[in-house]
This record gives sequence, structure tokens and C-alpha cells, in this order.
Amino acid sequence: MDVRLSVDLNEDGARAAVISDGQRERSIIVLTRGGTVAAYLNSCPHAGVRLDFGSGNFFHRDGHDLQCGVHGALFDPDSGRCVAGPCKGSRLVRLATRIEAGHQLVIQDVEKIPGRA
Ligand code: FES
Repeated sequence: MDVRLSVDLNEDGARAAVISDGQRERSIIVLTRGGTVAAYLNSCPHAGVRLDFGSGNFFHRDGHDLQCGVHGALFDPDSGRCVAGPCKGSRLVRLATRIEAGHQLVIQDVEKIPGRA
């Protein structure tokens, strides 16, 4: 099943959102930059906890990399690859998405999203 969220492609940033397939809720990261959007499961590959640890802040102080608030792992926002920290070399789970009508982010096949969140 697909889930739709509104996004503003003119605004750069990252925010948490909760989606559901009717069976379970999942926290995801919606990242908008330069008119593009990416969505990741909000789950650090190191320990399976939310990257923002509930704070709503996903960015390292450099303003570019995503950072896990628990042990400080850094993730490249374009690939989701961990570039520093205890899970270096692993990746965030990137979700299959598409944009409709210029502002609807469609998260595809939500029931197939692996892991816990
Ligand atoms: S839980 Fe994210 S770096 Fe340890």
C-alpha cells in the first residue's frame, strides 16, 4: 500500500513523519534539498533507534550530514551511507517514493518496509 504526505520542495530540511500500513506505525525521515526529496526509515543501523532520538533534529552541525543523536554516527544525505561512527559503511533504509502533483510524496509499498522503527 502507498501512503501520501504533503511536502514543500521549496524548503530544505529534514523532518520526522509517522506512516502506517494499518498494522504498524513507522517513523521515517523526509529530507528535502534543492527541490528533491528522499525518505529513509528513521532507524539507525547501529542500534535500531530513531536518529533524532525524538528531538526532531537530524543534522550534524555542518548542516549537511544526517547525524544519529545516540552515538553520533554521520550519514550522507544523498545515499544514506554511514560515513563515520560505529556503523560506518552501513546504510539507512531508503524508501521507494515518487512525487505526484508537485507536492505529494508517495511512500510506496509501506508494508514491505523492513526492520523496526
Ligand atoms: S544508535 Fe546510532 S550511532 Fe549508535
